[in-house]
Amino acid sequence: MRKAFVAGNWKMNTDSHTGVALAKAVASGSSQVAGHSVTVAVCPPFVYLQSVAAAVSASHVAVGAQDLYFEPKGAFTGEISPSMLKDIGCTYVLCGHSERRHVIGETDELICKKVSAAISGGLLPILCVGELLEERDASQTEAVVSRQLKNGLAGLSVEKVSAATIAYEPVWAIGTGRTATRQQAQEVHDFVRKLLQQMYGDELAEEIRILYGGSVKPGNSAELMAEPDIDGLLVGGASLKADDFLAIIDSAA
Ligand code: PGA
Repeated sequence: MRKAFVAGNWKMNTDSHTGVALAKAVASGSSQVAGHSVTVAVCPPFVYLQSVAAAVSASHVAVGAQDLYFEPKGAFTGEISPSMLKDIGCTYVLCGHSERRHVIGETDELICKKVSAAISGGLLPILCVGELLEERDASQTEAVVSRQLKNGLAGLSVEKVSAATIAYEPVWAIGTGRTATRQQAQEVHDFVRKLLQQMYGDELAEEIRILYGGSVKPGNSAELMAEPDIDGLLVGGASLKADDFLAIIDSAA
């Protein structure tokens, strides 16, 4: 049985006060369910990770980073290593979010190095995949998702991949208010699970969690979670409002 997983991706939002206040509100409002019936994580900007980790330390809310660098240390100005994230209390790290792919220009190869370094460094990566609108319109969804998944996990053993979570986030649904329908999401989730089954076998495919992301709101989270292959939600905009995020957590619990 896969435990539900709800993660909030704050992106480049909040400040030192509002981030801590939001984290505290999420921790207290989810205390009945977090860690029991649902895994809950928040992913603040790098500079607030430590204060957010302290704010949720007495709760079951986990902390994730939005990115990392694959080298352990050295002359990489501006970058953050897996061990630094571990050191300040991070459990999870997003890899290959669509904004990093399409705004910053990260490639599948770079993302694969990050996933691999995250796992070796003791972090649990959330590998994000998803097609652009023109790719969906050209019936390329499965080809794109399959390429991102295969390249993003290239060379990793089944033991390593078992540390990962996959997030399917159609790019056209992110921050646009246009959610994939539950059928559209389920179709791709089913495709991803079958692909993972071919690549790594039944056990891994049965156990790995596949999250949906893209304009998840309190009004659509329950119906998405009702689909058999949607194991959780990666929430952007709605994770910045404690009440909305808590309602989404409750609908997943
Ligand atoms: P959104 O973002 O919920 O604001 O669409 C989701 C994401 O990018 O993870």
